[in-house]
Amino acid sequence: MRFDILTLFPDFFISPLEQSIIGKAIAKGLIEVHAHNIRDYARGKHRTTDDYPYGGGHGMVMKVEPVTLALEAVKGGGGKVVLTTPQGVPFNHALAEALSKEDRLIIICGRYEGFDERIRGLADLEVSIGDYVLTGGEIPALVIMDAVGRLIPGVLGEPESAVSESYAGGLLEYPQYTRPEEFRGKKVPEVLLSGNHAEIEKWRRAESIKRTYLKRPDLISGEEFTGNDRKIIEELKKSGK
Ligand code: ADE
Repeated sequence: MRFDILTLFPDFFISPLEQSIIGKAIAKGLIEVHAHNIRDYARGKHRTTDDYPYGGGHGMVMKVEPVTLALEAVKGGGGKVVLTTPQGVPFNHALAEALSKEDRLIIICGRYEGFDERIRGLADLEVSIGDYVLTGGEIPALVIMDAVGRLIPGVLGEPESAVSESYAGGLLEYPQYTRPEEFRGKKVPEVLLSGNHAEIEKWRRAESIKRTYLKRPDLISGEEFTGNDRKIIEELKKSGK
């Protein structure tokens, strides 16, 4: 998978993309990232990329021309164009999965003070990473690359890791423990030490359902469950939680 980032701050991406799992995936050639400086496509002696807003008001507005020229130069090989903006569709696991099926994503990083409305017309999709305003689209671009990149086959060590984790099945992940068995009086649940795989699976499923119901009730209504899963929800409801 190839990512092309159009940004005013290409150096922003150097260190984060050298680290950990995404860094290794890039080194292995599973992911390619190219950060392009929008300023290289700005005209004039000062290569300005922003200007005063028509109609007046605070701050500067990102110009449409340099972004358009950068996109035209980069887009030769096609690809889906994503614009990062707080007005975009909320980014979630389902969208990360859909984007991971693309061969190439071109991400335009917006600036917080605003961008010329005509820049929106360049994008196939506007994406927001949450209901807050960041200073620019660089962190959202990193978030998108990380969440999408780890779904590319071969990037995670074990393919099951991506299957059992939070959100993958519409539920939050069950609690995990590692050694020691007891730490400052807090013990690992007995069932995980039992070696009984069927019981462990049952416990994990129940914990996932409970956690999701209690922490993120917006993700489940309870109606979609049957059998033992449904019983767990009914019990939680009865207990007044
Ligand atoms: N740019 C500034 N804030 C943003 C957000 N929350 N999501 C995506 N892009 C942004």
